[in-house]
Amino acid sequence: MTRVTVIGAGYVGAVSAAVLAYLGNDVTCVERNAERLAAWRGRTDPLCEPGLAELLRQVDVRFVPEPSDLANADLIVVAVGTPMGSDGRPDLEQLETAAAQIGARARHGAVVLVRSTVPVGTCDRLQRGPLRAQLVVSNPEFLREGHAVRDAFVPDRIVAGGPPEAQRVVADLYARVIDRRGLPPGLSRDERAKGPVPFCWMSAASAELAKYAANGFLATKLSFANEIANLAQAVGADASAVLGSMGLDPRIGAQFLRPGLGWGGSCFPKDTRALQAIADGMGYDFLVLKAAIDQNTRQLRGFASAIERALPQGESVGLLGLAFKAGTADTRESPAIALARLLLCAGFRVRAYDPAVRELPGDLGITLRRSAVDACDGVDAVVIATEWPEFARIDLRSLRRATRGDLLFDGRSVIAPSAAAAAGFRYAGPAGFVAGAIDTTTSSRIGTAA
Ligand code: UGA
Repeated sequence: MTRVTVIGAGYVGAVSAAVLAYLGNDVTCVERNAERLAAWRGRTDPLCEPGLAELLRQVDVRFVPEPSDLANADLIVVAVGTPMGSDGRPDLEQLETAAAQIGARARHGAVVLVRSTVPVGTCDRLQRGPLRAQLVVSNPEFLREGHAVRDAFVPDRIVAGGPPEAQRVVADLYARVIDRRGLPPGLSRDERAKGPVPFCWMSAASAELAKYAANGFLATKLSFANEIANLAQAVGADASAVLGSMGLDPRIGAQFLRPGLGWGGSCFPKDTRALQAIADGMGYDFLVLKAAIDQNTRQLRGFASAIERALPQGESVGLLGLAFKAGTADTRESPAIALARLLLCAGFRVRAYDPAVRELPGDLGITLRRSAVDACDGVDAVVIATEWPEFARIDLRSLRRATRGDLLFDGRSVIAPSAAAAAGFRYAGPAGFVAGAIDTTTSSRIGTAA
């Protein structure tokens, strides 16, 4: 039985701890935030990640405030936060603290798996510095919020890289994920029937870059889909037909083609900026990535401008959705929150509802309503900002009866335009051009708002 210490009990750390314990390892998980620690100890999930609390109740993970028994660990998983610093580069303070503790206490030859997303070269630097007595392996995660438990048990691939002596240890750690024998009963037979999970062993720098490359590519794919949707609007084509047919080409793939008001969350904005900073640091001009980032800003502004052009100042908006995506209460870097700020600055009154979000940034200045209809009661326009299935299924006729105005801005492509029209709404998709004319310049109020 491998003795594992996981440092950090956020999405990545808590899921890694639970899954590694389920796979038969002896797991301790360190969390320095007292409130979060108490929640994990009580086997409740402060992150609301589906299936995680249930999984933790089945296994025996010890949650502790300090990494006091590092000396006993065979393997240490580093899953601390690397938030975006003021210059766009990741802030590595938590990682450096963890590395110093590990270097001082862990045994010689212990394997250190760095699961946090870190700039290329970080693992090699730690290997030469505080962790010179250990084996440092970059092992990026590809978990999606809202699907993290499933993604950890049935990943598309496992990427890891570091000193050759560590390869066997890492392959053994994940053996039951790789051969799919360690899956809990809830995961389908289909998953079990698939072949082994690819185990991609490479250098530490390659593994670090592989993580940024994946997120950078997905963000770029979304920005491209948004551009196609905007162009479709301008030329009178149907974006969903165009993107739907593109997705049938397996070289393109159907996922991540749903146009919207822009991508957000704790990963894409941070990782695209970090990848750009890595390229800039090498004197390399990463044109495509820069364009994807710029397009994402323009997409949100263009959508907000379209609302502004259609509504007189001072009118009211019912904002449906605040989370950065469906299936989570997370509002970090949420396009919905950014949109709310733009609309408030432009002089609109905003009422909002989200099925999961219970807390908003204190300075936002809007109150949460209890239902979609409540948020839209008497408003001049409805704006959908998160792709919750609840909004896709909403009774549009009841919604229309509740609103004063007839404008519906669907920033997430969840409503069929024909269904909106049948319920009496004037509909605009994420391209947001009610009048049908393409105009991505920002108007003065929105332009000065952000
Ligand atoms: C993302 C990646 O998908 C994970 O593989 C990765 O492990 C994770 O970042 C990370 O680096 O930790 P996540 O941030 O949970 O996962 O969110 P996604 O599901 O990728 O969505 C990102 C944004 O794209 C959201 O704002 C979502 O609404 C938007 N999106 C997604 C669209 O606008 N259209 C789509 O078709 C799909």
